[in-house]
Amino acid sequence: MTDKEAAQLITGAAKGCPKECGQAYAPVNIALCKYWGKRDEMLNLPVTSSLSLSLPELGATTRISFREGHDQLFLDGVEQSRDSVSARRVSKYLDLFRPDRSTFFHVESESTVPIAAGLASSASGFAALALALNDLFQWNLGLRDLSILARLGSGSAARSIYTGFVLWHAGTREDGMDSFAEPVDGEWPGLCMGLIMVSRREKAVSSRIAMKRTVDTSALYRAWPAKVESDLKNLRQAIEKKDFDLLGRTAESNALAMHATMMDSQPPVLYWMPETVEEIRKIWRLRDNGLPVYFTMDAGPNIKMLFMEKDASLIREHFPDMEIALS
Ligand code: DP6
Repeated sequence: MTDKEAAQLITGAAKGCPKECGQAYAPVNIALCKYWGKRDEMLNLPVTSSLSLSLPELGATTRISFREGHDQLFLDGVEQSRDSVSARRVSKYLDLFRPDRSTFFHVESESTVPIAAGLASSASGFAALALALNDLFQWNLGLRDLSILARLGSGSAARSIYTGFVLWHAGTREDGMDSFAEPVDGEWPGLCMGLIMVSRREKAVSSRIAMKRTVDTSALYRAWPAKVESDLKNLRQAIEKKDFDLLGRTAESNALAMHATMMDSQPPVLYWMPETVEEIRKIWRLRDNGLPVYFTMDAGPNIKMLFMEKDASLIREHFPDMEIALS
């Protein structure tokens, strides 16, 4: 099945009268158990399920309307050249939804996170775009279908359709219709996530390329699906019982295991910078001294710390540059 056929399967039956402009917001999500490795590259079907936490304050607002001639993409007010990576990726995604070859789109997206700095901006970006297209075409799709459409743009976008804890089911079907995200029950007042920006620079190797290289070349990756299965079980239990240490320990170990598979790839992928290691050691030192703080990382050098609100002022003293993203 192609991505176009998959999109058609969902939008084909939806009858709506397009509006002049569609608009939507989608939050960033940070995986506590990572999506790392695809079983189908065209449909962004994952090897394993994954679990994330959405950061309601950080995200992308996207507006889309029709235009003639060619697609036009503005990111944070700056027009992207037509042959830029981002414009081409967005146009390729829009190809899935063009009613005919002469329909083009004007897309404007404003993000509260730096693009491609390892803060999952593609997740909120493609989720907001899928939601904005639903608004533009007046499809009135359910969130499960919208999660599948977002996934076709970027895998992790499947989870950015929701707030709170979110589980993306890997699914087993070849057409991917059972590979969508759903919210996980569990409000957790007082749970905080703090961002330590080690670098805002665009990364040299995209997560898409790093992920493929890992699947193709890392022997360690063979152990990944079993690791995910046990981490997901622990995370779900941690959320249910509000067991912060279990949540933090599991998320940190999952992120480190993902980075270990990248480092084991050929050629190796290492996103860490010297400051990344310094901050990790600092977190471990504080924890050894009794402060419950853990971290997770995505495909980049930046660190997302997990801690409880009662410890926030102490954490801030140790990390004065930290941006609190959830509390
Ligand atoms: C490390 O969703 O960006 O952030 O499906 O190729 O667009 P594509 O990949 P993407 O990968 C995200 C990887 C990750 C882990 C995660 O968010 O689960």
